[in-house]
Amino acid sequence: MTTKLTSEVEQQLWDAAEAAAALAYAPYSDFHVGAALLTSEGEIVSGCNVENASYGLTTCAERTAVLRAVAQGKLSKGVSIEAIAVVHRDHQSCAPCGACRQVLSEFGLNAIVLYEVEGQRKRTTVSALLPESFQL
Ligand code: THU
Repeated sequence: MTTKLTSEVEQQLWDAAEAAAALAYAPYSDFHVGAALLTSEGEIVSGCNVENASYGLTTCAERTAVLRAVAQGKLSKGVSIEAIAVVHRDHQSCAPCGACRQVLSEFGLNAIVLYEVEGQRKRTTVSALLPESFQL
């Protein structure tokens, strides 16, 4: 099954990502990020960044959304990510980091990635953001 990313669903993703950003736990960087992904089954799952005093243990918003979706049984072998929106709480530029690109590639090389740079909405794909991603 595939879910069409209509403009209405796209807006739902932006809204869910923005709502997630409001929940971010980012006391160290004060950089609050939200993400919302759409699965091929039509489910929307959001996530926020969760920081830690041991900085390297921080989880980005995108990876929180992916891990949550898997743990909720909404993303699995055979179910892919159709699209993901990523936003900073105050709309600062926030393209997905390298680690998140690799994690997204596991579930959706063709997934559409929506994010903002200098106040402009960007739309690309995981494979464009991470050419020749590592696959087993
Ligand atoms: N962050 C994300 O949540 N997603 C990204 O794609 C880039 C960075 C978070 C991690 C950290 O909590 C904060 O932003 C500053 O790096």
